[in-house]
Amino acid sequence: MSGSRRKYSVKQTGIVLAAGEGTRMNSKKPKILHEAGGAPLAAWVLRAMQGAGIDDIVVVVGHGADEIEKRLGPGVKYAVQSERLGSGHAALCALSELSSRPGYTFIAAGDMPLITSETIKSMFRQCSEHFFDCLLLSAVVKEPAGYGRVVRQENGEVVSIVEHKDASEEERTIREINASCYCVRTELLHEILPTLDRSNAQGEYYLTDIVTKIRERGGIVSAYTVDEEECLGVNDRVQLYEASKRLYRRTAEKHMRAGVTIIDADTAYIDPDTRIGADTVIYPGVFFENGCTVGEGATFYPGSRISASRIGAGTTVQNSVLTQAVVGENTIVGPYAYLRPGACVGDGCRIGDFVELKNCTIGNGTKVSHLTYIGDADFGENINVGCGVVVVNYDGKDKFRTKVGDGAFVGCNTNLISPVAVGKKAYIAAGSTITEDVPAGPGVLAVARSRQTIITDWSDRRGGEDLEKDRK
Ligand code: UD1
Ligand code: MG
Repeated sequence: MSGSRRKYSVKQTGIVLAAGEGTRMNSKKPKILHEAGGAPLAAWVLRAMQGAGIDDIVVVVGHGADEIEKRLGPGVKYAVQSERLGSGHAALCALSELSSRPGYTFIAAGDMPLITSETIKSMFRQCSEHFFDCLLLSAVVKEPAGYGRVVRQENGEVVSIVEHKDASEEERTIREINASCYCVRTELLHEILPTLDRSNAQGEYYLTDIVTKIRERGGIVSAYTVDEEECLGVNDRVQLYEASKRLYRRTAEKHMRAGVTIIDADTAYIDPDTRIGADTVIYPGVFFENGCTVGEGATFYPGSRISASRIGAGTTVQNSVLTQAVVGENTIVGPYAYLRPGACVGDGCRIGDFVELKNCTIGNGTKVSHLTYIGDADFGENINVGCGVVVVNYDGKDKFRTKVGDGAFVGCNTNLISPVAVGKKAYIAAGSTITEDVPAGPGVLAVARSRQTIITDWSDRRGGEDLEKDRK
């Protein structure tokens, strides 16, 4: 083999092993779909691999295959391992989907979300610079029990990986562990994986056996040692929590370095797809989920959950829930507002306490300050919506759309029975139930309520009782 060594045109492929059962999670959900730091475990691994330039990745799935494919999407290939016969067998299942072009294949376990693109890139670099046939990721840990140990000979050369269950007393004292990530010359994988056997304590095809097999063929194996943190594998919910903490922290630090102020990085829950402009300030306990976009100089006071939403520059959000919503610039949302899918709010608006918006547009400068529901409606610019306004969009069977023109004034406690159109600058008297279109103003007032009646002999009619006395 040494004679054929040359710099390979580095076709970089990847395999993610994700067919394990994840028994210790005690969950119906496949382990690698559990979320840490705002994304599924395997999505972090894929992100790291793709960030390192690997665009051809095979994910080996078993338990929960359909769910995994649905969640991780079509950007990768899938191979099914129908029987759990070990990590070596899982890698073998990927081979039919894997390019056989000369180059390197990076193999990672799907449950180690802290692996970074930088590490993967330098592993590829080292492989092509030093003509390694296999470079494995290792870490020196305090408590190596349970892990495969990296066995080196006196000159430091890696000779094998021995699984904990197969290790001798002496081998168990080794603190350098195999992290379950390998950069291997692709042709060798095609050659060696079909030759693995199951003669070990667990009766499994061990992927780790490729190390001795490669050496037997005269190949060079080395280890790339990183911090313990990067090698953290998630096997139970305690480790899920540990990983999640670290991932959230990493994301928070990335934003802080880019100019975002985070009051308490230990309680900043920002998912990896969220983008945040500089000079935005984030108070404790705010969740950003499913890829949000935030402009510059926005403020998020405590206690909001913002999912798949876009928030403009200079906007303030407090104690509110926003899902698939769009909010413009210099708008104030909350406290206690609920913006549901399709809510689209303009610039300079006010969406106050206990206001619920759904599938609607709210034009620039419009104020919806308190206790209001707007669903399936288009409100223009500079409208004043009083307290307790309800767009009655649903008749129990169908939904209808309502429109309110620019500059209108919708008095407190108005019901707008959809579909209805209110013209520009029209006034609606408080307490009205509007069932018919209101023409445009100025000067138009719609009143749709019964007149007040004053009865002056009410207590006489009730038999002369003194109401004041009743109240006591
Ligand atoms: C594996 C390594 C061990 C290493 C440890 C790091 C082997 C034999 N041992 O041990 O040296 O220290 O990871 O965490 O690989 N998988 C499948 N199909 C299977 C079996 C496993 O897809 O039939 C996948 C799992 O989903 C997982 C990976 O392979 O992503 C490793 O398998 P696992 O059972 O977790 O091996 P460990 O005992 O943890
Ligand atoms: Mg494991």
